[in-house]
Amino acid sequence: MNILILGSGGREHALAWAVMQNPKCDRLIVAPGNAGIAQISECAALDIEDGGAVAVFAAENAIDFVIVGPEAPLAAGVADRLRDAGVLVFGPSAAAANLEASKSFTKEICAAAGAPTAAYGHFTDAEAAKAYVRAQGAPIVVKADGLAAGKGVIVAMDEATALAAIDDMFDGAFGGAGAEVVIEEFMQGEEASFFVLCDAQDVLPIGTAQDHKQVGEGDIGPNTGGMGAYSPAPVMTDEVTQKVLEQIVRPTMAEMSRRGMPFQGVLFVGLMIRDGQPRLIEYNVRFGDPECQVLMMRLGAQAMDLMHAAAEGRLSGMRVNWGDDHAMSVVIAADGYPGVYEKGSVISGLEALPETSSKMCFHAGTGERDGQVVATGGRVLNATARGATLAEARAGAYAMAEEIDWPGGFYRSDIGWRALEQG
Ligand code: AMP
Ligand code: GLY
Repeated sequence: MNILILGSGGREHALAWAVMQNPKCDRLIVAPGNAGIAQISECAALDIEDGGAVAVFAAENAIDFVIVGPEAPLAAGVADRLRDAGVLVFGPSAAAANLEASKSFTKEICAAAGAPTAAYGHFTDAEAAKAYVRAQGAPIVVKADGLAAGKGVIVAMDEATALAAIDDMFDGAFGGAGAEVVIEEFMQGEEASFFVLCDAQDVLPIGTAQDHKQVGEGDIGPNTGGMGAYSPAPVMTDEVTQKVLEQIVRPTMAEMSRRGMPFQGVLFVGLMIRDGQPRLIEYNVRFGDPECQVLMMRLGAQAMDLMHAAAEGRLSGMRVNWGDDHAMSVVIAADGYPGVYEKGSVISGLEALPETSSKMCFHAGTGERDGQVVATGGRVLNATARGATLAEARAGAYAMAEEIDWPGGFYRSDIGWRALEQG
């Protein structure tokens, strides 16, 4: 099979790494890719949000199967264009991608499906939104309705913060994404992420993870795209998992199909769990980054067969072969991230790192300059390892992080602390 993966981050490096291990893959191209991906796969320059261009590229390269990594091409309808052109694709239609691209759409689907989630209000003008905040009181959560690169959520511990967030959003701090806002009840509990492959008929869980969104050790400071992740998430017991499937995932999928927009791809279910009862925080319509890195580390080559089955509507016949293992990914970011950071600094020490089925340093934001690897993004590398225990996975990931010689970078030293404390 000739396979095309769209994207350029650590998530796509991990997807490429898993696909390359599968003997059914004859040729892999990643567009646009990065310096790490280029070490294991062909890379091609391509505007991945231009569905027409992607369809032409797929035809020219005799691509049999396309895996879409990030949300932006999905929201832009790239999967629709590929399907129209007769290309098999893993990833939802633009209509189904609204489960991530519009928070008010998701709340409406949850209400219709009876899926437990935070109480909310949906507003298109600031005064009505503020009146709702004053009536509800703090803590309260203010969210830009549209895609805001993970930054459109303000958890306000006091009313003044919530009111200021509303002004910011309607003043365009998140561009078009903030033209409408959703205001939600503040939920307490432990967060976890649950990943489920979906075709129009079936759902297949492929793993759980927990990430660390905040930049500082002890989970403090500004939010990031994610500073590290581990899998499995201990809070996702079998009982909680069954509740999530029965109360949240299956009713959502049924409602999407009922509305004529069946969801196919991976559903990333962001959950808040309290006293064994899960509630939905949000959906994403793609793998998480860096959650994908730990999932791929645990699934290996079968990940490609599972995604291919989802794309062909064959999930009912599939099962996942689980190892009794754990994985951790530590994100190495550029100094200053998630604020202002420099690009272009040289990273060394990467050649000496292990590259095995249980240890891999995925590249998230790198490029090549004069034969050297240079940083090109905020999140730059993902030291990722698997082990029999979380402590073993942690030791493997941090041993790699320490080997990397990059004075311009930093990482959190406490990834997984909650789960490790629980033993
Ligand atoms: P999101 O972008 O929706 O994942 O939100 C980012 C983070 O904000 C989540 O991971 C939660 O930590 C927090 N959050 C979002 N919605 C709520 C809520 N209703 N109650 C409490 N925390 C929330
Ligand atoms: N790590 C969170 C996300 O990918 O949305």
